[in-house]
Amino acid sequence: MQNSAVGDDSLCDVIRNHAAPEYACTRTKVAVLGAGVAGITAAQALSNNSVSDFVIIEYNAEIGGRCRWTTFGNDSEGNQYTVELGDNWVQGTATEDGPENPIWTLAKKYNLINTFSNSSSVQTYGENGQVDYLAKLDDFEEAYAYVEQDAGIILSENLQDRSFRAALNLAGYKPMLDPEASVLEWYSFDFEYAQTPDVTSQEFTVANYNSTFYGFSEDSYLVHDPRGFNTFIRGEASTFLTPSDPRLLLSTIVTNISYTPEGVTITNEDGSCISADYAICTFSVGVLQSDLVTFDPPLPQWKRIAIETFQMGIYTKIFFQFPPDRIFWNSSYQFLLYASPQRGYYPVFQPLDLPDFLPGSGIFFATVVTDQSRRIEAQSDERTKSEILAVLRQIFGDENVPDPIDFMYPRWGQTPWARGSYSNWPPGLTLEGHQNLRANVDRLWFAGEATSQQYFGYLQGSYLEGKGTGERVATLVNGGLGEGDTRVEGEVQGDELRYEVLKGTTTIEEYAPYNGWYVSTFQEGEGEEEGGS
Ligand SMILES: Cc1cc2nc3c(=O)[nH]c(=O)nc-3n(C[C@H](O)[C@H](O)[C@H](O)COP(=O)(O)OP(=O)(O)OC[C@H]3O[C@@H](n4cnc5c(N)ncnc54)[C@H](O)[C@@H]3O)c2cc1C
Ligand SMILES: *[C@@H]1O[C@H](CO)[C@@H](O)[C@H](O)[C@H]1NC(C)=O
Ligand SMILES: *[C@@H]1O[C@H](CO)[C@@H](O)[C@H](O)[C@H]1NC(C)=O
Ligand SMILES: *[C@@H]1O[C@H](CO)[C@@H](O)[C@H](O)[C@H]1NC(C)=O
Ligand SMILES: *[C@@H]1O[C@H](CO)[C@@H](O)[C@H](O)[C@H]1NC(C)=O
Ligand SMILES: *[C@@H]1O[C@H](CO)[C@@H](O)[C@H](O)[C@H]1NC(C)=O
Repeated sequence: MQNSAVGDDSLCDVIRNHAAPEYACTRTKVAVLGAGVAGITAAQALSNNSVSDFVIIEYNAEIGGRCRWTTFGNDSEGNQYTVELGDNWVQGTATEDGPENPIWTLAKKYNLINTFSNSSSVQTYGENGQVDYLAKLDDFEEAYAYVEQDAGIILSENLQDRSFRAALNLAGYKPMLDPEASVLEWYSFDFEYAQTPDVTSQEFTVANYNSTFYGFSEDSYLVHDPRGFNTFIRGEASTFLTPSDPRLLLSTIVTNISYTPEGVTITNEDGSCISADYAICTFSVGVLQSDLVTFDPPLPQWKRIAIETFQMGIYTKIFFQFPPDRIFWNSSYQFLLYASPQRGYYPVFQPLDLPDFLPGSGIFFATVVTDQSRRIEAQSDERTKSEILAVLRQIFGDENVPDPIDFMYPRWGQTPWARGSYSNWPPGLTLEGHQNLRANVDRLWFAGEATSQQYFGYLQGSYLEGKGTGERVATLVNGGLGEGDTRVEGEVQGDELRYEVLKGTTTIEEYAPYNGWYVSTFQEGEGEEEGGS
C-alpha cells in the first residue's frame, strides 16, 4: 500500500472528479471489506496469488466476524469459560474418499476441541414435565423424504419453487395444532435455518442440505475450545499477516462505497478513505439491507432486488450458568425439547455441563430464532431470564431450578456489523436471482456466507466464496482471466454473470381471461389494449 499523495495517477483522479478527499486517500490494489471468514480467506487467496498490495477494513477491534466467542461464568478457581456467540458446529465433515468440508480440514489443522453432536440424544418435555413424544419425529422424516425428492424434480425439470411449508403440507404433514409435533418440526427445521418453513424455499433448502450433509457427511461436531472456534481463522490470518500488519485496519467503520469501472473508493466513519483498483465486500445481507453503508452511485436495481429479496435470520443462544452442584438436567442427553403451545417459544435447551463438553461448568443454553429473537432483543435481559426460568421451573419443578449465577445473550439483529445471524433462501427466488447477489458491480465484488449458492448460512459458504472471489480478483489484478479459473464468464471477461432482467414464465398474451385475468392493469400504450378480443 502506498499513499496517493506521492502517487502520480491519483492526481488525475482528483482533477477528473474534482473530489478533494480522493487526494488524501490511501492507495491500494484491493480493498477487502470485512475480516470475517470470507474476508480473511479472500485476502489469503490474494496473497497466495502474489497480490500483496491489499488493505482489509474491519469494523471490530478483532478479526473473525460472526465467528465470535466470549468469556462467561467462572469455574471453581475463578477462571472464565469460553462460549460461542455465533457459529458453534462444524456441519458436514467428509465422505470416505471424496470431498472434505474445508472447515473440517481447518478444525483438524488447529486441533479445535469438539464433540460429536448427537441429534438423536434428545429428551422431550411438555407443559407438565417429561413426556416421550420422540416417536412423532418419524412423521417429519417421512414427509422430508418426499419433500427432498420432490425438490429434486423441481430443480431438474425447472418447475416452480414452493415454500417448504407448502411442500410439507403436500406431503400430508400438518403439525400446527399439535405442540409436540410442532416442536419436533422446529427442531428439524427452524433450528437449522433460523426461519420457519413458511418463508423458506423448498427447492434451495433441500439443495443446500444435500450439498453439505450428503456432499460432505451427515455428521456435525460442536466446538467447545477454550481458545474459541475462530482460532482457525486467526491462525490462517497469521500465515500472511504480521501481528501489527499495516494492511489490516481494525476498528474502522466503512460508511460509503463509491465505485466506477476504474476503481472503488471507500470512505470510513473516521473520515479516512482508501482508493482501490478493486474491492471485495463481505458484509452480511443484513448489513447490505440496512442503510449503514451508502453506495455511490446507488446499486443498480438488479443488485438491489437480490439484496432485498434474500433473507437474514437471527439465531440467539441464551446462556445460563447454574450453581454446578445444583444441576437439574439428566446428563445423558445433549438436547432437551419443550413443546410450548406457542411454536418457537424456548423450544430447545442444550446443557454444556455434560461429560464430553464442559463438565462441572453448570452451563446451559436455550436457543430461539428470528421472530422470538426479535422479541427478546427488544426486552430486558431480566425479563428474558425470568421467562426461561418460568419454563424450566414448570417442567423440572420449582424446587429443582435454582437462580443462575450468570446469564447473557447476544442481540444479533441489532448488531450494526451483522444485522442478523445468517441468510436464508426465500421461496420463488431463482438461481439467476441469487446469482445477482454474488455478481460484481463494476469493480466492486461481493463474497460471504450469503453469496454461496450451495452452502449459504454455513462457514464453508463463507470460506469457499472468499477463496473463489479472492482468486478471481487476483487474476484480474494480475492482468486477465487465468487458465485455472473455470468459472463461467460473463459478457465482459472476468465479470460474474448477472441477470439485469429476471424473467417470469408468463408472457403478456397469457394475461387473459382464460387464465382468470379479467381486468387490464396496464397503462395505455404500455401493454395490451383494454378490452381484448
Ligand atoms: C448465532 C450464529 C450461529 C451460527 N451457527 C453456525 C454453525 O453452527 N455452523 C456454521 O457453519 N455456520 C454457522 N453460522 C454462520 C457463520 O457464522 C457465518 O456463515 C460466517 O461466520 C460468516 O462469515 P462472513 O465472512 O461471510 O461474514 P461476517 O463474519 O459477517 O464478516 C463480515 C465482516 O464485515 C465486518 N463489517 C460489517 N459492516 C462493516 C462496516 N460498515 N465497516 C467495516 N466492517 C464491517 C463485520 O464486522 C465482519 O467482521 C452461525 C452464525 C451465527 C451468527
Ligand atoms: C493459501 O496457500 C496455503 C499454502 O499452500 C494454503 O494452506 C491455503 O489453503 C491457501 N489459501 C487459500 C484461500 O487458497
Ligand atoms: C445418539 O443418541 C442415541 C440416543 O441416546 C443413542 O442411541 C445413539 O447410540 C447415540 N449415537 C452416537 C453415535 O453416540
Ligand atoms: C437431494 O438428495 C435426495 C437424496 O439423494 C435426492 O432424492 C434429491 O433429488 C436431492 N434434491 C436436490 C434438490 O438436490
Ligand atoms: C460517497 O462518496 C462519494 C465519493 O467520494 C461522494 O461523492 C458522495 O457524496 C459520498 N456519499 C455519502 C452519502 O457520503
Ligand atoms: C437419565 O437418563 C438415562 C437414560 O434414559 C436413565 O437411564 C437414567 O435413569 C436417567 N437418570 C436420572 C437421574 O433420571
